[in-house]
Amino acid sequence: MRNGGGRHNIKVSGTIMTPARAFVACAIILICLFYALTAAFQGLISGTQGPASSGTRLHLNGLDPRVNKQERDVSALLLPTRERWHGPVDLDVAAAARADELNRTWMESPDKAAGSWWLQPGFHLSFMEENPPYPFQRIKHVDGKDTGVIAIIAPFYDLDYYKGELARAFFWRLKANGHIVIIITSYQEFPGRIENPYDDRHTTPQDRLIHEAVDGYVHCFREPDRFIPPGIPRILLSESDFHDPDRRDGGGSLVPFGLPKEYDLFYSNQGGDWNDFARNWTLAKASFKRLITELGIKVIIMGRDLNKEEDHDLSPLIASGHIVTHGPSTPWKDFLRYIESSRILMAPNVHDASPRVLVEGLSLNLPILVNRHIIGGWKYVNDQTGAFFDSEENVVPVFKELLRKQQQSELRPREWFRENWGKEKATVRLQAFLELAVGEERLKAAQDIVKAKVTYK
Ligand SMILES: *[C@@H]1O[C@H](CO)[C@@H](O)[C@H](O)[C@H]1NC(C)=O
Ligand SMILES: *[C@@H]1O[C@H](CO)[C@@H](O)[C@H](O)[C@H]1NC(C)=O
Repeated sequence: MRNGGGRHNIKVSGTIMTPARAFVACAIILICLFYALTAAFQGLISGTQGPASSGTRLHLNGLDPRVNKQERDVSALLLPTRERWHGPVDLDVAAAARADELNRTWMESPDKAAGSWWLQPGFHLSFMEENPPYPFQRIKHVDGKDTGVIAIIAPFYDLDYYKGELARAFFWRLKANGHIVIIITSYQEFPGRIENPYDDRHTTPQDRLIHEAVDGYVHCFREPDRFIPPGIPRILLSESDFHDPDRRDGGGSLVPFGLPKEYDLFYSNQGGDWNDFARNWTLAKASFKRLITELGIKVIIMGRDLNKEEDHDLSPLIASGHIVTHGPSTPWKDFLRYIESSRILMAPNVHDASPRVLVEGLSLNLPILVNRHIIGGWKYVNDQTGAFFDSEENVVPVFKELLRKQQQSELRPREWFRENWGKEKATVRLQAFLELAVGEERLKAAQDIVKAKVTYK
């Protein structure tokens, strides 16, 4: 400080620092600092040390390569899966055998005897979370721990450029990091072309690259080649298979209470153009009119309060009491009670991928009357569980025959579902499928990424 000078002037090695000079100096220092930091972080931000050309070998993020010696050739992981996978495409039989093996090992293990349920095999689908956002869904172990396996369950969103691009970039980033990404086909024709004209999710040509680079398909299709790119391991397994037919808690019960039957036919449709298409409202209405006119049955429609809608087709039948409706705000536990109070569940749906309501119906021991052309969920229909129809011309005889079989105790929908699908079986089958499709080593590496909880080394 110089006593005789301006109060704020500072002398730095012989130069007088006026406030203006000090400001300029600070600005220069800040700019230099900014560039130095940017340069230092650039490599980390792009996930590479140096430009990422094809063949660049990357360290798995989150894992310290000095400890783990894990290096990945990122270009290999980002290639279409058919270039890495040389085994059979349909892994249903092999996965079922591996699932039995996993179950047998568990049943005989001392861990089971000791009651350590959290060591039980099985991969579960997580509930929807803020992150990663829909349509990404994490896959977890029975104890709730992340497996590092992520599912894509619907096409990316069309109507917001950044939202769609964020999702695409996120996919490639996860792949480069060593995550395992699969597609679960629970959204109409996805990954095929979406037919619903009211949908705001579609797939673009870039998405085809993503569909070819996923590690496997958990699908619902009768003819998977129509919807799934070739050469990628796949299994017939759906989100709806993961429901627990023995669930009974405050949220609702999939175990029948033994309620008396009040309705002959149950149908669910939340309303709006999108649902009307997915749940085939046109065929539903035509079928109700036929069934009520010819058989005088009582129908319950859940999800839309038709008393508030002007509907020329159905208003007379609502007035006569043949159709009862309940709005979308019905709690799930009551929704399930209405199912149980019905004799048969109808799904005229075509553009729908294994609707959950089919499993709710089967669990509550209702036979299911399903459109023959449904995309997914057809696998639940057999001579013990229900029947197919495909128009208002054959709905009446098919319904009558199903009712006859039910009255003569020839059907066992709940038992059949419990014996073949449901949470226990689905979770072990998913783990078995992944072990075969990507190998235990990559599964372990994917889990290590989320365990390490570090993005950048
Ligand atoms: C409804 O079902 C009929 C008969 O199976 C079918 O021809 C029609 O395409 C379906 N409509 C929709 C929107 O799914
Ligand atoms: C595991 O095996 C036991 C006994 O053999 C059987 O009761 C159970 O259903 C099996 N569980 C699965 C998921 O296959």
